[in-house]
Amino acid sequence: MSRFVDVKVENGIQLITINRPDKKNALLQEMYSVLADSLFGADDNSDIRVTVITGVEDSFTSGNDLGDFLNNPMQDEETPVFRFLKALATIKKPLISAVNGLAVGVGTTMLMHCDLVYASKEAKLSLPFVNLALVPEASSSYLMPKMMGHQRAAELLMLGEPFSADKAYEYGIVNEVTSSEALLSTAMEAAAKIAAKAPEAVRLAKALLKNDGEAVLKQMDAEGQIFRSRLVSDEAREAMQAFMERRPPDFSKFA
Ligand code: COA
Repeated sequence: MSRFVDVKVENGIQLITINRPDKKNALLQEMYSVLADSLFGADDNSDIRVTVITGVEDSFTSGNDLGDFLNNPMQDEETPVFRFLKALATIKKPLISAVNGLAVGVGTTMLMHCDLVYASKEAKLSLPFVNLALVPEASSSYLMPKMMGHQRAAELLMLGEPFSADKAYEYGIVNEVTSSEALLSTAMEAAAKIAAKAPEAVRLAKALLKNDGEAVLKQMDAEGQIFRSRLVSDEAREAMQAFMERRPPDFSKFA
C-alpha cells in the first residue's frame, strides 16, 4: 500500500487516484508498486472489468520523482517502475485515463498504452526526457511514431516542450477533451459502458487491437537499458541537480 495512491473498486470499475499533491503527484517506487499490483491484480479479479486512472488537484502526475532518480537511480529490471511499465504493456483488461492536469514523462507515455484517454482542457502534457539528458521510455519511441508519425513524435520527444490537451487530441493521444468538471464522469461513464459488456469479448478485442505486444516489450527493454545507463550519466545528474537547485542546467561542458 501507499498513502499516495488510492484504489477503490465499485460496480466492476477499479478507480486508481494518484494522491501526492504537494509534489504534483510525482511517483515514488512505492507508488509504482501499488500501480503495478492494481493493474496486474485486476486481470485476476473477476470483480474488476476495467480500470480508470486519474490524479488529485492540478496534476495527473509530474512523472518520476526527480529526487528519487538522483538519489536512487534504479539499475536493474526488477524495480517497481519497470513492473508498472510491463503491466501497462501486458494487462488484458481495459485501461482508461482521465488526465486532469500536468502529465509529465511517464504521465504522458502511459497514455500510449491506454485504451481510452480523456483529458480536461487544463491538462498540460510533456515528455522532457531529452531535457533531463534521458531517453524515451515505456516503449514511447515505438508507440508514438506508430500513432502520430515520426515528425510529430520527434517534435514531442526531442523538443520536450509542454503541449495542450487540444494538441494531444490532434496527435491522436486523447479521445476527447472535456471541462475539468466533466472529466471524471466522462471517463467513468465510458468505463461503466465497458463494464457492462461481455468481459471475454472485451478482453479478446483488446488483445486483437494490441497485436504487437512483443515489439512493444522489445523496445521497452531496449529503452530501459539505455535509460538506466543515462540515469547515472554526468549529463543527467547535472540536469536533475539543476531541477533541485531551481536553476537551468548547464550542458556546455559536455562533448
Ligand atoms: N519530482 C520531484 N518533485 C517534484 C516533481 C518531480 N517530478 N515535480 C514537482 N515536484 C515538486 C517540486 O520540487 C515542488 O516541491 P517543493 O514545494 O518541495 O519545492 C513541488 O513539487 C511543486 O512543484 P513546482 O515546480 O513548484 O510547481 P510548478 O507548477 O511550478 O511546476 C512542474 C510543475 C511539474 C512543471 C515542475 O515541477 C517540473 O518540471 N517538475 C519536474 C517534472 C519532471 O521532469 N518529471 C520527470 C519526467 S521523466
